Amino acid sequence: MRKIKIGIIGTGSISDAHLQSYEQNDRADLTAVCDLNEERARLKAKKYGAAKVYSDYRELLNDDEIDAVSICTWNNTHAEIAIAALENGKHVLVEKPLSKTLDEALKVKKAVENSGKVLQVGFVRRYDNNIHILKKFIDNGDLGAIYYAKASSLRRLGNPGGWFSDKDISGGGPLLDIGVHIIDLCWYLMGRPKVKSISGNTYSQLGNRSNIQNLSFYKAADYNPTKNTIEDLANAIIRFDNGASLVVDVSYTLHAQKDESIIKLYGDRGGAEIDPEFKIITEKYNTILNITPQVDSAGFDFTSGFQNEIDGFISSCLGEAEPLSSVDDGVEMMKILTAIYESSKKGSEIQFDIEKVQI
Ligand SMILES: NC(=O)c1ccc[n+]([C@@H]2O[C@H](COP(=O)([O-])OP(=O)(O)OC[C@H]3O[C@@H](n4cnc5c(N)ncnc54)[C@H](O)[C@@H]3O)[C@@H](O)[C@H]2O)c1
Repeated sequence: MRKIKIGIIGTGSISDAHLQSYEQNDRADLTAVCDLNEERARLKAKKYGAAKVYSDYRELLNDDEIDAVSICTWNNTHAEIAIAALENGKHVLVEKPLSKTLDEALKVKKAVENSGKVLQVGFVRRYDNNIHILKKFIDNGDLGAIYYAKASSLRRLGNPGGWFSDKDISGGGPLLDIGVHIIDLCWYLMGRPKVKSISGNTYSQLGNRSNIQNLSFYKAADYNPTKNTIEDLANAIIRFDNGASLVVDVSYTLHAQKDESIIKLYGDRGGAEIDPEFKIITEKYNTILNITPQVDSAGFDFTSGFQNEIDGFISSCLGEAEPLSSVDDGVEMMKILTAIYESSKKGSEIQFDIEKVQI
């Protein structure tokens, strides 16, 4: 059996989800790891049995043994590393967001086209088992035309610090980090409609609240709360050319009683709730029914989501299927996110057909 030889670039917090999933895939061979922090890479190599350790990603990309890479580095390096990997003949799984800017995203798209290699964007929410089930209902018309969706990912406290909160490195705050997941998921399930206009607001009212004690949260591998140049809350209304709309809000911190994760879709024949719990809402014999699917996990299952993402990537590398989350979708997300920041800065709506969207 042919095995795809894998290199992991960036061995910080999220890399474990990739490493564990490759380890579980018998058609993947974890061959090399790379991190600027060589000691960190060495520890991961030992833990997961990768034979080679690099501290310069260019050396890993020059290694002819490697077929494919996962890019799990800071957002400002995604495009540069993805392009170099494609030019070196490697397939690429790049963590979300595809890049820091739209301009970079377009360059990655060009590199994918020139190389003919696979590029999959790490929109892990698409790979959740419940989404796979819901997609069958949507594709078979059970929801009808989806005309409205709303999504919230509100953390009371959850600024990961370090590079995440340095806009020059991350490109943005919770909008780019967690907003990208929920906007992408709604857009994908709505049938990837063309964006018509976007109105957004961002706020930097509370800072990172690193003074708060007794509540734990996700942290960058090199957690450091001293610099914070990102928003702490963003919201937006996205209007599509088929008349549908999506309302979204995300935060790293907010004076809220609880964290809140909501993803809801409304169609003209039925509705669906994904977060916090998978439900389908329909109508039969003049009665409204709430359907609770009997599934292993009521909400998003992180472990199987990553496993499905990695299994899908390996399958694409072997030429069996196109990636479920393509470079085109990564570019479209960068257009949407960029426009939300732009709209907030201008204090007015961005019209997609008449304005060139670029930060
Ligand atoms: N899909 C998800 O749910 C999810 C969750 C968390 C993070 N992420 C994404 O994964 C990426 C990494 O996030 P993280 O939380 O692991 O961050 P992290 O800070 O914990 O780890 C990043 C690692 O990348 C290394 N690195 C940075 N630039 C490098 C370079 N040029 N060459 C080699 N190594 C380099 C750093 O030294 C660090 O060890 C980000 O793009 C983030 O948006 C995705």
